[in-house]
Amino acid sequence: MSNYIAGQTVHEKYGGVIPELASRAHMQNIVPVVDTALAAAGCDLSAVDAIAFTQAPGLIGALLVGTQFAKSLSLALDKPLIAVHHMQAHVLANLIGEDKPDFPFLCLTVSGGHTQIVLCESPLKMKVIGETIDDAAGEAFDKSAKLLGLPYPGGPLIDKYAKLGDPNRFKFTEPQIAGLDFSFSGLKTSILYFLKNAGASNVYKEEFLVDEVTRQQFIKDNLNDICASIQSRIVSILLNKLKKAVKETGVKDICIAGGVSANSGLRTSLTVMGKENGWRTFIPAFEYCTDNAAMIAIAGYYKFLTKDFAELSINPSARAEW
Ligand code: KG4
Ligand code: ZN
Repeated sequence: MSNYIAGQTVHEKYGGVIPELASRAHMQNIVPVVDTALAAAGCDLSAVDAIAFTQAPGLIGALLVGTQFAKSLSLALDKPLIAVHHMQAHVLANLIGEDKPDFPFLCLTVSGGHTQIVLCESPLKMKVIGETIDDAAGEAFDKSAKLLGLPYPGGPLIDKYAKLGDPNRFKFTEPQIAGLDFSFSGLKTSILYFLKNAGASNVYKEEFLVDEVTRQQFIKDNLNDICASIQSRIVSILLNKLKKAVKETGVKDICIAGGVSANSGLRTSLTVMGKENGWRTFIPAFEYCTDNAAMIAIAGYYKFLTKDFAELSINPSARAEW
């Protein structure tokens, strides 16, 4: 009925999220956010059947604020409490709305902290069949953006400039990782040296190293093409593994989820790949791709149906088993 988000601009100047500042901003935001969401939904707390909250994984300080607030509401209102796994909620965001995948489906979950291929057999039964062994796809975007001097989070900016550039202008190699796992750290290093060499090479070579002024000029003159080339490589790494997962599982209902699923290059390429290979593809609306409340609500809804409620003694966890 409403899906309200309080963003935190306080991190922008640091080039990444500062955990302690995130916790403090959560404490300041949580009551106004709930008030605003209820007002937008046109109801009050008496109309709410249960309180769902993110229990794991994430930054522990931020999770503590949400957990404590949800527990307090649950106790005060005498309504059931439902613990939600953040990554499972990203997957279930695909079940919001009319056009839904059938079970089983595969979901490529790509966010700032995770890159996973999930086999989803039911709303409550999911298995991670591939994941990153180092950086997440969102980190690959954000760290590349940082090397280009763009502010955090740089993913949406790379997307913006990539739309104006040539994705075939610069070549970044695809890592050869066994099975369905991903790796992005090699790409990050090759971008680092590509920029240090002003495009002359992707590896460390003393004779190619340029001074700071030349490097900055190279970035400025070629920003759109660099962004398009980086984005195209990240997208091809993701989709080639997804193709492999379809081959191995035989599952042809394919979803994407998480902040990076807002990327226009990924969305377009997935649709094209789906048509070529006879898959049914599902892409959540933009507002359900990056972190949002609706995905926690829909995950909570399925647990509510089976009365899978949490005790008031529950604690948040920075890491989470599936
Ligand atoms: O799922 P999310 O909102 O938060 C986490 O749980 O991490 O994902 C945030 C990530 C960031 O790395 C951000 O740069 C990336 O999603 N992102 C994008 C785009 N929009 C958000 N990356 C590429 N293109 C985008 N349009
Ligand atoms: Zn997320």
